[in-house]
Amino acid sequence: MHIRVLGSAAGGGFPQWNCNCRQCAGLRGGSLRAQRRTQSSIALSDDGVNWLLCNASPDIRAQIDGFAPLQPARRLRDTAIAGVLLMDSQIDHCTGLLSLREGCPHTVWCTARVHEDLSSGFPLFPMLEHWNGGLQWQPVDLDREPFHIAACEHLRLRAIPLVSNAPPYSPNRGNPQPGDTIGLFIEDQRSGAALFYAPGLGQIDDDVAHWMTRADCLLLDGTLWRDDEMRVCGVGQSLGSEMGHLPQSGPGGMLERLEDFPRQRKVLIHINNTNPILDEDSAERALLERRGIEVAYDGMDIVL
Ligand code: MLT
Ligand code: MN
Ligand code: ZN
Repeated sequence: MHIRVLGSAAGGGFPQWNCNCRQCAGLRGGSLRAQRRTQSSIALSDDGVNWLLCNASPDIRAQIDGFAPLQPARRLRDTAIAGVLLMDSQIDHCTGLLSLREGCPHTVWCTARVHEDLSSGFPLFPMLEHWNGGLQWQPVDLDREPFHIAACEHLRLRAIPLVSNAPPYSPNRGNPQPGDTIGLFIEDQRSGAALFYAPGLGQIDDDVAHWMTRADCLLLDGTLWRDDEMRVCGVGQSLGSEMGHLPQSGPGGMLERLEDFPRQRKVLIHINNTNPILDEDSAERALLERRGIEVAYDGMDIVL
C-alpha cells in the first residue's frame, strides 16, 4: 500500500494566511527552521496508479500539482483520483471537493452524519449536482465490517467511529455522535500490513486502542502540543479537548498513550501552526524524536 501525505497541517495550514504567531512569522521571515505545510489530506493506492483521496483539503489544487501520479495525462482531461473518502465534514477536509468540480461525477464515501452536514449546513452534495452528476454518495457504515473500493481492490477498509467533535457550523457541534468523525483501518491484503489513520482524534478508547494495536503504522491527530495552546499563544480561546483533538503533552496525552504501542511506526499529522513540534529546533520536537514519533510533512511517502 502506498500512502502519500498530500497535506500535513491542521486547518489554516502553516504558515496560516492571517497569523503572526511566533511560528508563522518565523517561517515567513526565515528565522524558524521548519517546513511549509498545506491542510491535511492523504492519498492511498494499492498499485501507485489509482488513488483514493482521504479528505479533500482546500489546498487540493496545489497538492495535485505537487504529486505527478495524481495527474497521469492519459487523455485530454484526466485524473488518477478514483474517489474521495471523508473522515468528517470539517471545512479543512471537504472544501477541496469544490475545486474538483470540473471532474464530476466523483464517488464520495462518508457516513450518514457527514452526508447530512454536507447536505444542509455546508451543502456540497446538492450544490455539486449542477456539475455533471456531482458527488455520488457511498454510505460508510460504522459496523467495522471491511469494505472495498474498486480502484484499490487489494485494500480492505474499515471505518472506526471516533470521539472528536463536529465542525463549528454543524448542529452536532458540542454533542458529537458516532459517525461525525471516523478513523480508518486499512489493510493491504497482499502484504498483510495495516494503517490506522485518524487526523481528528479526541480520545483513545478501548475500541480505538484495539485497532491501533492491530496496525503496523499509526497516522494520528497531531493538532496541538498542549490542550490550552491556542490560549497560551494568544490566537484563540478553544481548548484542544473542546475541538476534539487529544494534545500530545500532559497526563493521558498522546505521548503517554503511544507508550502502549512500541511495535508500531508512529506519525503525527494535522498539525496546527502553533504546535512547537513544527519547529525543528524545539525541545518538543527533540522529545518526539527520542520517542521514535515522526512528524508528517507534505510529500511524505509511506509504503506498507
Ligand atoms: C478542526 O480540526 O477542529 C477544524 O478544522 C477547525 C476548523 O474548521 O476551524
Ligand atoms: Mn481540522
Ligand atoms: Zn500561527
